[in-house]
Amino acid sequence: MNPKIRAGFLGTGSYLPNKILTNQDMEKIVETSDEWIVTRTGIKERHIAAEGQTTSDMAVEASKQALHSAGLKASDLDLIIVATITPDTPTPATACWVQCKLGASQAAAFDLSAACSGFVYGLTVAKAFVESGMYRRILLIGAEKLTAFVDWKDRGTCVLFGDGAGAALIGPVAEGHHEILSSFMAANGKEAELLKIPGGGCRFPPTAQTVDQRLHTLKMEGKEIFKTAVKVMSEATLEAARRAGLELKDIALIIPHQANLRIIQAIGERLEVPPEKMFVNLDRVGNTSAASVIIALDEAVKGGKIKKGDHLALVAFGAGTTLASGAVRW
Ligand code: UT7
Repeated sequence: MNPKIRAGFLGTGSYLPNKILTNQDMEKIVETSDEWIVTRTGIKERHIAAEGQTTSDMAVEASKQALHSAGLKASDLDLIIVATITPDTPTPATACWVQCKLGASQAAAFDLSAACSGFVYGLTVAKAFVESGMYRRILLIGAEKLTAFVDWKDRGTCVLFGDGAGAALIGPVAEGHHEILSSFMAANGKEAELLKIPGGGCRFPPTAQTVDQRLHTLKMEGKEIFKTAVKVMSEATLEAARRAGLELKDIALIIPHQANLRIIQAIGERLEVPPEKMFVNLDRVGNTSAASVIIALDEAVKGGKIKKGDHLALVAFGAGTTLASGAVRW
């Protein structure tokens, strides 16, 4: 019998655009205050893509770092997955633009649409491809240009989001070496109306009227999403640990989706995990949806927050609603 193939991280990378929009800048755009944004969300600033800079451009920058850290070339890749809700174009997939820009001509390419859970959903997908022996060098990206889809007149949402990209190389690893020990995905379509971009699909194809009605921008029932997020992300963290044969006390760091500091704190309280074990970078980055968890993971790696052999839990929740988690032994 062939030995089991184990999937894990071969490298990571991330990219944030240079331009920063502070809360003071937001005060000039909508009726808000630094005090409200900080106390209600924990966000102080977010990065904004340049005009003309696309989701695939940011994905390529993050991918170059991930390839470098894995010691691989673009021509080594056999699959590119881009988790995004802000694609360069409705079709073709952003993954195809990335494939072209990287020169990864041997790679198949597709997008994954699971909103803020996108990168963590992708972990299950990439893990399954690697363990089946079908692909060995998978570039898994979370990338978003959310500022292109934010309603800049809606203070309830526009202060929350930022742009950026993160990338991971997923492939076969030795047992316990950056290994993805478990992964979990779920969805609840009954909550689909809570967070959406209503227009641009076949339900409301773009017309002058849909533009006037601002149907091409993000709409969110923040309070409902908040309550569900705390509950289901706590449960999904436990599920990832359980599937990996771990207890919560074995987890050195939880890397949650970066939507709101109060959500992260509430999850920590529910799970009785001390604040220092909950990774936070949303104060500088805001909510970058599918890019959020992989940008955070890459920052944690580069910032020396993760030691070899540490157990990590990744967890995310977003539009759909979708929910995903995973446990990793670094
Ligand atoms: O990434 C996918 C998942 N997304 C999330 O997890 C986001 C979850 N939701 C949240 O993080 C929070 O619900 C928000 C940060 C979006 C909103 O916080 P909240 O504490 O739920 O506030 P709220 O929407 O209930 O609004 C409270 C008040 C309202 O005023 P009134 O009606 O009480 O007079 C809002 O109009 O705060 C007002 N408000 C603001 N005031 C100043 C809403 N946005 C702002 C703002 N600045 N930017």
